[in-house]
Amino acid sequence: MSAVAVVTGAASGIGRAAAVSLARDGHRVALVDLDVAGLAETRARIEGFGGKAQEFELDLCDPLAVGSVTREIAVTFGAPEVLVNVAGIGVAATVLETSDEDWGRVLAVNLTGPFLTTRATLPLMLDRGRGVIVNIASVGGLVGLSRRAAYCASKAGLIGLTRAIAVDHARDGIRCVAICPGTVETEWVGKILAGAPDPEAARAAMAARQLDGRMGTPDEIAAMVSFVAGPEGRFINGAALVVDGGMTAV
Ligand SMILES: NC(=O)c1ccc[n+]([C@@H]2O[C@H](COP(=O)([O-])OP(=O)(O)OC[C@H]3O[C@@H](n4cnc5c(N)ncnc54)[C@H](O)[C@@H]3O)[C@@H](O)[C@H]2O)c1
Repeated sequence: MSAVAVVTGAASGIGRAAAVSLARDGHRVALVDLDVAGLAETRARIEGFGGKAQEFELDLCDPLAVGSVTREIAVTFGAPEVLVNVAGIGVAATVLETSDEDWGRVLAVNLTGPFLTTRATLPLMLDRGRGVIVNIASVGGLVGLSRRAAYCASKAGLIGLTRAIAVDHARDGIRCVAICPGTVETEWVGKILAGAPDPEAARAAMAARQLDGRMGTPDEIAAMVSFVAGPEGRFINGAALVVDGGMTAV
């Protein structure tokens, strides 16, 4: 039977593209998100080419629910061999502008969320002696981005968590890898642009951040997820792989 992959944030953007790509690779994909309508759309896309997927509603800020949904996935769908932590949020603010609530929310989804899903899933991977965990971090975990204090801190933390998991569990047959995208045209970026005083100027500025002069596509990040999770990625462990159109080369 095909291996099970769990993808958080699967209702939108990079998570949806990663879920579709892993399904095309032959995985049965557990689609996790709090956006139920978006999950149904992702499942429909996967089933459209004969792939297998099932939705699991989950708010990653609820630690008890992370445990129970992980058990539900294992029992009803199968023990995961691949976990892709994609769900994330951002707040546009310097340290001085960041409220306690926003700091807590960004850290809860972007850093504590992957910690909780990993802690719940690792025992299932250890039982089988194999597993791959892919964390979608950001270039914001490697360099400072303007007015993204909590976001950058959360993504730098996620890269640190990735390395720690790799160090602790490499000899158990587990790999853990971070991917650091540059600006990728998703629903998230669409909302940022829609809220800008001059959306076209904001789009041009976001595109210009990449050396390539354009934003990335969700599929370009999903291709890296598939590579890392697949057999050709077997020598990649504990790395923070940059997929950013050259954004951090300067
Ligand atoms: N788009 C970019 O430019 C970009 C660049 C670098 C990194 N990233 C990272 O990629 C990931 C996905 O970004 P995207 O652009 O596809 O965003 P998106 O907003 O399109 O998708 C994020 C998904 O996460 C889900 N989510 C948010 N909070 C959740 C929670 N508490 N529980 C469960 N699900 C939750 C949302 O419902 C949504 O479906 C994020 O971690 C983001 O930081 C994005």
